[in-house]
Amino acid sequence: MRIYDLIKKKRDGGTHSKEELRFIIDSYVSGNIPDYQISAWLMAVYFQGMSSEETLEFTQALVQSGDQVDLSAIDGVKVDKHSTGGVGDKTSLIVGPIVAACGLKLAKMSGRGLGHTGGTLDKLEAIPGLSTELSEREFIEQVQKIGLAIIGQTADLAPGDKKLYALRDVTATVDSIPLIAGSIMSKKLAAGSDIIVLDVKCGSGAFMKNVKDAVELAQTMVDIGEGAGRKTAALVTDMDRPLGQCIGNAIEITEVIQVLKDEGPEDLRELCFVLSSELLKLANPESGQDYDALVREAVSSGKALDCFAQMVAAQGGDPHITQDISILPQPKYSAEIIAVQDGWISHMDTETCGIASSMLGAGRLKMDDQIQPAAGIRLHRRSGEQVKKGEILAELYTDDETLLAAAKSKLESAYVFTEEKAESKALILARVYAKDNSKTGLDV
Ligand code: URA
Repeated sequence: MRIYDLIKKKRDGGTHSKEELRFIIDSYVSGNIPDYQISAWLMAVYFQGMSSEETLEFTQALVQSGDQVDLSAIDGVKVDKHSTGGVGDKTSLIVGPIVAACGLKLAKMSGRGLGHTGGTLDKLEAIPGLSTELSEREFIEQVQKIGLAIIGQTADLAPGDKKLYALRDVTATVDSIPLIAGSIMSKKLAAGSDIIVLDVKCGSGAFMKNVKDAVELAQTMVDIGEGAGRKTAALVTDMDRPLGQCIGNAIEITEVIQVLKDEGPEDLRELCFVLSSELLKLANPESGQDYDALVREAVSSGKALDCFAQMVAAQGGDPHITQDISILPQPKYSAEIIAVQDGWISHMDTETCGIASSMLGAGRLKMDDQIQPAAGIRLHRRSGEQVKKGEILAELYTDDETLLAAAKSKLESAYVFTEEKAESKALILARVYAKDNSKTGLDV
C-alpha cells in the first residue's frame, strides 16, 4: 500500500477499506508517513467526508494505536459522560456524583481547558490538595469502592489521535464531523466504559454553530459508540449562553456544590438531571422507572453531595468544602459590570465570556500556561433576563489587578441589550439515540 494512492483515492471521493485506514494510522503513529502527506489526506477527508463504516474503522484504528483501559475488575455498569466543550460547563462534576448515588460506576478521564473553554481537571484541581493524577490501579480501586473517579487522561490513550489532532490544529482540518467524531470517540472507547452519554454543544461558544451540524455530529458519535458495542446516546444542547452563573475554576466548584445541595441555577440543574437520567435509562432500558424522580431524590436526599465529598477525599482534597466554600481559593481583586440602562439581555456571546474569563487568569492560551484557580466571572444577570439601570450584571475576579480592565471591557462586549422582552431559547435542542431505536429527533 502507498500513502500517495490513498490520498488520491480520498481526494477523488473514494471509500477506504478497514486495512487502508489501519495502514494510514499505524504508519503515521510509527513515523513511517510524514506530516505533509497526512496533512494532505486530512484535507481530502475534510472535503470528501467519510462513510459511517469508514468513520467507525478510523476510530477503531485510533483506539488500537494505544492502551485500552480494562474496567472489568469493577462490579456493575461502568458509565462515562463527555461534553464537546463549553463555557461554564461543570456538568461532569455534578452528573458523576448523582449517577454514583444511583448505583452506577462513573470512571471518567477528563481534559484541561484550552482557549475559551474550561476543563474539568482545572476545576477539580482548584480544590486544595486534590490530585487528578491517579495510577490506573488507583483509578479502578476508587471507582470500585466509592462509585466514581475523575482523573487526567493517561498519555497512552489513543496516541494516534493526539498526533493527528496536533496536525489538524495547524492545517485547518479540525472542524470536520468524521474527524471530530473519531477523535472524541477514540478516547471514550479506549477509556473502557459500557455506556457513554455525550453532550454536544451548539452555538456561539461551541464547535458546531447550528443544530443541523450538531445533530449530525451527535449521530455520528452515537453510531460509532453503538458500532463498537457500547450503549451510546447524545443530547444536543445550547451553548449560545454560558451554562450556569459561574465561569472559572474554584467559582464553578461553588456552583457544583450548590446544585448538589439542590439549589443553583435552573439551566445547570436541568441539564445535569437530564444527562444523569439518560445514563440511568441506558443502563436499565427495560425497567420503565421514573429516572428523573430517582435523580432528584439522589440530590434532595444529600446522597449525591456525599458521593462528591467522598471523591474529593479519595483524591486527596478537603471534603469539608461541601460545608465551607471559603476553603476554596479566594481572589485578591474584583470588579463589577453595572447596567447603564433598563432593558433585556437578548444575547450574550458565549465565546467572548469564555475569553474574558481566560483573560482574568482562569484559562490558558497554551497547554503549559499556569492558571489562577480563583479567577473567573459570576453572572448576576443572563440571556433572556430583564435588567434595571444600576444593577450589577456581573462580577469579575482575579489575583492580578492589571488584568481586570481589559477583561471587563471584553465581557461588556458580550452583551446584546434590547428594549423589548427577550425570547428565551430551549436548553436541550435534540436527543439522539442509536438509529435502530428510531428515537432520533429534534425536541424543538
Ligand atoms: N475534541 C477532541 O477531542 N477532538 C476533536 O477533534 C474536537 C474536540
